[in-house]
Amino acid sequence: MCGIVGYVGTSQACSFLVEGLRRLEYRGYDSSGLAIHTGRSLGVTRSSGRIDALAGRLEEAPLSGSLGIGHTRWATHGPATEPNAHPHLGGDGEIALVHNGVIENFQTLKNELVKKGYCFKSETDSEVIAHLLAENLKKSPEVNGKPNVRYLNAVQMTLASLRGTYGLAICFLDKPDLMITARFGSPLVIGVGQGEYFVSSDASPLVGRTDRIVYLADHQIAVLTPAGFSVIHRDQGKVRIDIQPLEVESGEANLEGFDHFMLKEIYEQPESLRNAMRGRLDDEDATAVFGGLNLTPQQLGSVERIILTGCGTSWHSALVGEYLIEELARIPVSVEYASELRYRNPPIEKNTLVFGLTQSGETADTLAALRETKRKGHRTLAICNVVASSIAQAADGGVYLHAGPEIGVASTKAYTSQCCVLAMLALYLGRMRHLSFESGRKIIKNLRQLPNAVQSALGCDAQVREVAEKHHSSDNFLYLGRQFNFPTALEGALKLKEISYIHAEGYPAAEMKHGPIALVDEATPSVFIVPQGTTYSKVMANMEEVKARGGPIIAIASHDDPQVDKIADDVIRIPQVPEFLQPIVTIVPLQLLSYHIALLRGCDVDKPRNLAKSVTVE
Ligand code: AGP
Repeated sequence: MCGIVGYVGTSQACSFLVEGLRRLEYRGYDSSGLAIHTGRSLGVTRSSGRIDALAGRLEEAPLSGSLGIGHTRWATHGPATEPNAHPHLGGDGEIALVHNGVIENFQTLKNELVKKGYCFKSETDSEVIAHLLAENLKKSPEVNGKPNVRYLNAVQMTLASLRGTYGLAICFLDKPDLMITARFGSPLVIGVGQGEYFVSSDASPLVGRTDRIVYLADHQIAVLTPAGFSVIHRDQGKVRIDIQPLEVESGEANLEGFDHFMLKEIYEQPESLRNAMRGRLDDEDATAVFGGLNLTPQQLGSVERIILTGCGTSWHSALVGEYLIEELARIPVSVEYASELRYRNPPIEKNTLVFGLTQSGETADTLAALRETKRKGHRTLAICNVVASSIAQAADGGVYLHAGPEIGVASTKAYTSQCCVLAMLALYLGRMRHLSFESGRKIIKNLRQLPNAVQSALGCDAQVREVAEKHHSSDNFLYLGRQFNFPTALEGALKLKEISYIHAEGYPAAEMKHGPIALVDEATPSVFIVPQGTTYSKVMANMEEVKARGGPIIAIASHDDPQVDKIADDVIRIPQVPEFLQPIVTIVPLQLLSYHIALLRGCDVDKPRNLAKSVTVE
C-alpha cells in the first residue's frame, strides 16, 4: 500500500527519495510524488502511474535541496490522478505532507475547513490534514528560544482532531531544516545516519544508507533536523529512543537473474523452508522448539482451543493449520477471516490461543483482530515474516518465518513457510499430548525431507509452461482438492486471479456436484489436486464427473500414479510426501501455472493491478 520516504540532512534529498520510492514499489501503488525544500520554496512534483514517470519529470525539472518527503499512493479516496497524488499542500502552500492510512472523519473536517475558506485541490482524505495543520499553525504561538515547538504543538493539535490511521511526514515552508513525522496504525521507521536521517514506512529504503533504525510506535511523533532528533509520545511526553541494528541484508531484494520476484521467490522455497526449520527441530525429544512463544509448557499444555486468523493467502495457510493441528495435536481449531473476527463477538473460552498469520505483519484487519482478542484477555501470537512489524510487536509472542523479503505481490514462499511453521507447531503441541516419541521422530524426518521434495516439484516448470500455453486464454478455471489439499485449491485459484485477472474458483472437490459443476464446459479447465492419500479415489471419481461433461482436466498427481493419465488431459507430477505435508508441495505447480499464464497474457506479474503487498487499510 502507500509508502512514505523522507530525508533530512546535508546531501541532495532527491536521489534518496526516488530510490527509496522505487524500493517501496512492491507494496503496490498507482501514483507517486515528492516535495523538496529548495531553500526558498516547497517544490512539488507528482505523477500518476509508475515511478519512472515521476523520475522523468524530475529529470526535466530537477528539484534541489537537502530536506524532502516522497510518497507512493494506493488510491482510496479519489482515483489515481495527479491532483490526488501526494504530497499535499496546506493553507497557501506553507506546509507539505505525505500520509498513509485513512482519516475516517475527513468529510466533517473538510466541511469545517471549506467554511473557513480553505480551497481543496484533491478528493483525498489526506489533504484535510494539510489544511487543518495550516489552520492550527495560525493558532500556535512562537515559544521563546524553542523555534520548533510551535510546529510540534500545531501537529499535536491536528492529530488530536483526526479519527482513523496515519503515518505522516511533514515539512514547512518557513523551516527549511525541520521535518515532523507521526504514526498511528501505519508504520514509520527512522534511519539514523551521520548528520542525516531517513524516514520510511518500512526498512527497505534504508538498506545501504544506514545500519541503525528506530521503529516508531503508535502515538509517537518524531522531530527531525540535521542536528538531531527527538521522539515524543502523545500522552507520555519525550520518550527514550531505542536505536536498533538494521537487520536487512543488502542485495536480498535483487532479482538475481530471475525475470520476476515472484519466480525468484517460488524458486527460493527449498531454502526458505530450511530457514523456517533451522534450529527448531529437536531430535532428542522428537519435537519442535520455538524461542518466542512466551508461554510456559504448563500454559501450552492447558490450551483447549486454537483460533487461527489472517487474510488472503495467510487465511489459506490458517486452513492448512486447522487440518494439521487437529490431526497431529487433537486440539480443536477454528479459522477466522480477520476482517470478520474483528467485528464479531464470538464466545471464546478461556485457554484459547489466538494466532494471527501474516507475511507483512502490517495487515490492518489482522492487527485489529488480534488487538480485539487481546483486549478480551486471550493470549495472542503472531506467525509473521517481517521482523519488528506492527503485528509482531502487538502480539504476546510468536514465530518468525525467516523466509527473507517477499517482494512479489502474490505471496508464495511466505505461504509455504507459514504451512511449515504450522506443521512444526502441530508437532510441538501434539508431543505435549498424545503423540508418541516414534511418531514425533517420523514427523521430523518427513519435515527434513520437505525442501528436497519442493526442489523436485520445481522440476515441473517446463511442463507447466506448456500447460499454460494450452489454457492461457480461458476465462474461467476451477480448482478442486480435498482435505489437506482443499486449501491448496483455494490458494491456487487466488494466485491465478491475482496476477492473470482470470476468474477462478477453488472448491472442496466433493462440493462440486452441489453447484459449481454447472460451470463445467469445454472452455473451463478444472485443476484437480489429486496426490495419493485417503481421498484419492473419491477425487478421481470427481474427475470422471468433469470428464463426462467435456471439461478439460489438469491433474496435480503423484509420480507413481498410473491411473490418473486415463482421465486427465494433462498430468503434472509431484513427489509423494505424507498427506499432512502435501499442501507445501502441491501448491508449487499451481504457483508456476499462475505465473506462466499471467506472463502469456502480458500481465505485470510482480505488480498486479489494484493490489497492494501489505494492506494497511480496512
Ligand atoms: C497474497 O498473494 C495476497 N497478496 C494477499 O491475499 C495477502 O496474503 C493478504 O493481503 C494478507 O497479507 P499478510 O500475509 O501480509 O497479512
